[in-house]
Amino acid sequence: MSAQRTWWRDGVIYQIYPRSFQDTNADGLGDLQGIIQRLDYLKELGIDGIWLSPINPSPDVDFGYDVSDYHGIDPKFGTLQDFDRLLQEAHQRDIHIILDLVLNHTSDQHQWFQESLKSKDNPYHDWYIWRDPAPDGDYPNNWLAIFGGPGWEYNSELNQYYYHTFCPEQPDLNFRNPDVRQAVLEVFRFWLERGVDGFRLDVFNAYYKHRELRDNPRRKGFYLRPYDRFEHVNDCSQPEMFPLLQDIRRLVDQYPDRYVVGETFLASPVQARMYIAPDLLHAGFDYAYARSTWSASSFGNAIAYWDALHGEEDWPNYFLNNHDTPRSAARYVTGEEDARLKLLACMHLTVRGTPYLYYGEEIGMRDTRYKRKEIQDPVGKRKWLSVQGRDGCRSPMQWDASMNAGFSPARPWLRVNPDYISRNVEAQQQEPQSLLSFYRALIHLRRENPVLHAGSLELLPLENESVLVYRRSTPSRQALVALNFSNRPQQITLPSLEIENQTWQLLFGGNGPAAPELDSGSLCLPPYGTAILLS
Ligand code: NOJ
Ligand code: CA
Repeated sequence: MSAQRTWWRDGVIYQIYPRSFQDTNADGLGDLQGIIQRLDYLKELGIDGIWLSPINPSPDVDFGYDVSDYHGIDPKFGTLQDFDRLLQEAHQRDIHIILDLVLNHTSDQHQWFQESLKSKDNPYHDWYIWRDPAPDGDYPNNWLAIFGGPGWEYNSELNQYYYHTFCPEQPDLNFRNPDVRQAVLEVFRFWLERGVDGFRLDVFNAYYKHRELRDNPRRKGFYLRPYDRFEHVNDCSQPEMFPLLQDIRRLVDQYPDRYVVGETFLASPVQARMYIAPDLLHAGFDYAYARSTWSASSFGNAIAYWDALHGEEDWPNYFLNNHDTPRSAARYVTGEEDARLKLLACMHLTVRGTPYLYYGEEIGMRDTRYKRKEIQDPVGKRKWLSVQGRDGCRSPMQWDASMNAGFSPARPWLRVNPDYISRNVEAQQQEPQSLLSFYRALIHLRRENPVLHAGSLELLPLENESVLVYRRSTPSRQALVALNFSNRPQQITLPSLEIENQTWQLLFGGNGPAAPELDSGSLCLPPYGTAILLS
């Protein structure tokens, strides 16, 4: 990896769910102007890039993840001119913009699909995955939709089914049609020409399905969700994905300093890793870290595995939160205490890899609980009894204690979490001990100390099972990070420094004073205490 600073590798990326960030025209929905207004806040926080959840026109069956025009901006968010301004204003502040491209499927309102419906002879018919019914009239195969029900939707006029991995209103594109491939590459080119810095590819490894649409084999064991009762070997992760990624990367590399990160669908870390290479994706997401239980060994194992998979050649990334997952504050914390969240922040911002933050994570936003009639998410609507859906982590950003948390003067599309009166940006900005101040201080430390963003990683054996300890190293510097996962004080032995004539110095402590005793070579950590030591 090059020694030169690279924004997506050495920096911090912040995900914005645009509907929920900042409304400026009083319609209860966040918009691009709102993001522009908050760029100074993000600059002060210290981030290097923004991943915007989809902003293309969408009928919002899945809130932007059902696109009806890949070359436009949804009017509820603004115009192409607003987008150009956002890019320009972000770039002036050295903030990069990553667009979310949802190309596995379109909206059923997309013109391509509307044409595809007209007749079997229509040139767009084969842009989607259409099949005749089985001889007995049944579905063409046993594939299911992950949001519930069969994967096949019947059209009586054509007497055919089309396939959808998600909702019926999200028909999957047929990537085996060269025109689809071409149209998709044009989408990349369009946004690259406009100056976009990178892309997040939604469920990219589902683009190709088995050529013969073979049935998925049954999985052994008991699974509550019907979708999980099958091995998804034929409806995703096909070998044809590799040459397509190579074409995408070749195109992206024609523009300097661009980045492509992939969301791998249903894949193991090993599968996710296979798509990352100098001629494929720059990076990929893995869920093991976010799914860790609260213990030093659980996080340590997830990090050790993902880090080793990347080796020297490639660069891992990590997220604790996104728009599909209950927030870390809901997963690991009960009540209003932020000590555990400070520990997570310290780990997240000092482990080797690109940290992704999700809006509101920096102030410890909790999930909002919604009543059934308030649910917006299609997953929540369809599965209310077993799954609440994903609205809880999508509630509006809590800026201040004014009406609707300063998000909007109008009724927000999703109700604001009632804790906004005390938990908000303005309150935390004024409080040196707040979670926000903690994030900001750590992001700046990370930027100032190359060993914290660029160093190699060595996880030390768990001498004390409550304390995760790792070392980051560059040829001239070492850093040691110690994180006490328990609610009691803990002590560890400081490892020796591998650089001669230097001693460990405490650079940063969190959740109370950490006390290194250099003579006896030990370090005491308060409950949930964190310490960063530097050589
Ligand atoms: C993954 C996205 O993260 C999720 O929000 C969306 O519902 C599905 N892909 C479908 O696009
Ligand atoms: Ca608005």
